[in-house]
Amino acid sequence: MLWKKLWAKGENTMFKQATWEEQVIFKLGKKGRSGHAVPEAEEEVQSAVGNVNDLFPENMRRIGKLGLPELSEVEVARHFMRLSEMNYGIDSGLYPLGSCTMKYNPRINEVLAGLTTLSTIHPYQDDSTVQGILEILYKLERWLGEITGTYEVCLHPAAGAHGEFLGTMLMHACLKQNGQCERKTEVIVPDSAHGTNPASAAMAGFNVVIVPSAADGCIDLEALKSVTSEKTAGLMLTNPNTLGIFEKDIEEIAKIIHEVGGLLYYDGANLNPLLSKVRPGDMGFDIVHINIHKTFGTPHGGGGPGAGPVGVSKDLAQFLPMPSVAFDGERYSLAYDKPHSIGKIRGFQGNVAVLLRAYAYVLSMGLEGLKEAAEISVLNANYVMKKLGSIKGLTIPYDDKQSRKHECVISAKSLKNDTGVSALNLAKRLLDYGLHAPTTYFPLIVDEALMIEPTESFEKEELDRFIDALRRICEEAYENPQVVLTAPHNTSIPRLDEVKASHPKTMALSWRMHTKKGKTAGNPRNDYI
Ligand SMILES: Cc1ncc(COP(=O)(O)O)c(C=O)c1O
Repeated sequence: MLWKKLWAKGENTMFKQATWEEQVIFKLGKKGRSGHAVPEAEEEVQSAVGNVNDLFPENMRRIGKLGLPELSEVEVARHFMRLSEMNYGIDSGLYPLGSCTMKYNPRINEVLAGLTTLSTIHPYQDDSTVQGILEILYKLERWLGEITGTYEVCLHPAAGAHGEFLGTMLMHACLKQNGQCERKTEVIVPDSAHGTNPASAAMAGFNVVIVPSAADGCIDLEALKSVTSEKTAGLMLTNPNTLGIFEKDIEEIAKIIHEVGGLLYYDGANLNPLLSKVRPGDMGFDIVHINIHKTFGTPHGGGGPGAGPVGVSKDLAQFLPMPSVAFDGERYSLAYDKPHSIGKIRGFQGNVAVLLRAYAYVLSMGLEGLKEAAEISVLNANYVMKKLGSIKGLTIPYDDKQSRKHECVISAKSLKNDTGVSALNLAKRLLDYGLHAPTTYFPLIVDEALMIEPTESFEKEELDRFIDALRRICEEAYENPQVVLTAPHNTSIPRLDEVKASHPKTMALSWRMHTKKGKTAGNPRNDYI
């Protein structure tokens, strides 16, 4: 392979990202330019349609106040093309962002979700005119119920964290009905959990109790028993956990929590390796969220859009948000007859375009296809883990004999001690090799963590390229650490000042925010370099 030959000669990393001194779109164009050249409509058409502006009430018109840039079509096309050349996405190559399940998403899902018959529906249309989409949502609810082993599914939440919040609200509703709100005030969360778990529990009004992991990376059962009490409202658990390890004592864990009348919550961010193999409902989980934008074929990035449906056991179904989709054997309709529902958590039926992609994905894969995807994701993660564990400077924390599920966590602690090169530096240098970095510094229980999730959608050659790049970077760290410490060098934008880029005082997420900070000169991106 060409890259192997080049790397062996130490020649280059075979990657150089495009670099454009691209201005924000507001600084391009000129007053009066426009992006279309549609001929004037015939006179009769004009008089039939009338002046579009007259359709809107005077006080709602913002003509001239929006401050939109004025550009020709070609300027717009070139601007976005240049920006895309300075980007790296799932279509460029491996994107091993642990806990994010960054799969390649088949284009057919995009085509189906974009069909005008589906994408132009208005949520206020009468049920009788939207039977097709209601049927899709009705079926998807049932398929996800089947996949997760839950009794009823609500499609509304817009993300995993939103699903978690709904889940903890459901715990609360259940306690309220049983008159136990005063008594059951605690939600237990393992120390390996994603930060959204304790945040969701706290937002729903619970006190969060952290339980440590044992030497094998699983929940410490004795510690769990010691923090479980009559005060326990529930436990939030990811299985496999964020180390990629399956919580083998899940039945015992469920028993401990259920014995004190608590509920077991499944964080479904890591559902990918379990698809069609085992179901959270069968493991004893009462509430399950699914990250559609991870496991079920929707591009995931830049914070959304996503979907975090929640499935629950029979007893909890009465509390789910409304409306659900009902079917009387002939017609589909939206059902509001849920007197114990916690109400609405989102408008309409959630992020329907994302749900449509999930429908298309499950339909095209079938249960057997999903199972194969799960198995390959596990094979890939274990292949990568074994290979990386043999590289000088990298170690496999927790039981390295135990296989992982869909992701693995590697520690760069020895490398840092030996050379000063941290997990962050490794991640930055990987960009120079034309590879996306893995998640870093999560889970918090691993020092200098690199959390790697290759997913099922990459070939062995691509995994080998990733492994060899990390091997080579570790060698560089021992031979010439400076090159790694100052990386990236081949990307369109050099290393960012992470504090400036994320501190509320200096961060500007839009041109409007940037100008509000009194800055209009120069390219805003240079503020963070
Ligand atoms: C383990 C885990 N739980 C929950 C979440 C939250 O999901 P979302 O980003 O969809 O809100 C994530 C997100 O990465 C996660 O990795």
